Amino acid sequence: MADRPRILVVGSFMMDLIASARRAPASGETVVGTSFATAPGGKGANQAVQCARLGAQVTIVGRVGDDPFGRILLDTVREAGVDVSHVDIDPCEASGVGHILLEVTEEGAKNRITVCPGANFRVTVKDVSWLREEIGTYDFVLLQFELPMPVVEAVAEWAHGKGVPVMVNPAPAAPISKDLLSWATYFSPNEHEAAILTGHPIRVGEEGARPEDIRAVASAFQAMGAQNLILTLGDQGSVWAGQEGIVPVPCARVPHVADPTAAGDSFVAAFCTGVCAGLAQPEALAFASHTAALTVSRMGAMPSLPTIGEVRAFMEERGCDGAVVRKLEILEGGNGDEG
Ligand SMILES: Nc1ncnc2c1ncn2[C@@H]1O[C@H](COP(=O)(O)OP(=O)(O)O)[C@@H](O)[C@H]1O
Ligand SMILES: [Mg+2]
Repeated sequence: MADRPRILVVGSFMMDLIASARRAPASGETVVGTSFATAPGGKGANQAVQCARLGAQVTIVGRVGDDPFGRILLDTVREAGVDVSHVDIDPCEASGVGHILLEVTEEGAKNRITVCPGANFRVTVKDVSWLREEIGTYDFVLLQFELPMPVVEAVAEWAHGKGVPVMVNPAPAAPISKDLLSWATYFSPNEHEAAILTGHPIRVGEEGARPEDIRAVASAFQAMGAQNLILTLGDQGSVWAGQEGIVPVPCARVPHVADPTAAGDSFVAAFCTGVCAGLAQPEALAFASHTAALTVSRMGAMPSLPTIGEVRAFMEERGCDGAVVRKLEILEGGNGDEG
């Protein structure tokens, strides 16, 4: 059996602090909440954990504070089997925090989020300069937008220079340079990020996401230089826009959607792991949509990310191509199914 794929994530760690209340307080007001929870996350950490649960050998590069949140974040990601030896501990800045107010009413839950990037924004190009040479030893690089843009750009350029495929997940949306798009082998925004970056909203009609809107977004990204666009559309699935034209990828339906948090992280991480395992792009997209469907069927971000064994079983149950499910065998026996 070939070696397990080596995936590098250069990305964020955030501790989510989630207060639920029946209504959000007005300015200057105090309301009594109904519950409180903390949950380790950050797009970088979530994607690293998902790749590891799917059997890849994963290294994460990033920064946490010298505080209890930082220690919990590192322990959680390490316990998932991710190499955290290249995560720096910042002596001055606090760990990144996602401060979430969940307003839970009869109609459902709405969130208001304040992200304090803290130590994540203290990562410098100099800190990661060792990757300039070392990056060639990885099979795939995953990047998001929760670290300073110069760091994201430098890592993408080095990976591109060494011929290592790069996934750029532009989340949260931020202005993106033509250079970065030219270094991104794969570019995967969700519908909201795509609308912000291109100025074209994607409307959902009776028949689902409107094809004319998807075409407008895809053309705008192609004009900006994106070569291989994977646009995720929440419960509308995703589309792949490349040389083959626009290919829709249906969602894998689950009986109950418990929590859509981390759907995108789960999806892009699975796609990259699938490509590393030798799947063709449409096969990797099917693998990603089944992985993300399991994630949304469970509560929480990190705890909900499924293992390779769970995804293969789910794909078999849903009648996916047996040849694809067999190709994924290469990933079994990694971290994902040990613990
Ligand atoms: N309700 C759902 N049921 C099944 N799959 C889903 C659901 N919501 C999202 N997904 C899957 O997760 C992928 C990413 O979700 P999306 O909401 O676009 O990302 P993000 O978390 O970045 O907002 C979708 O393309 C789809 O495959
Ligand atoms: Mg979404």
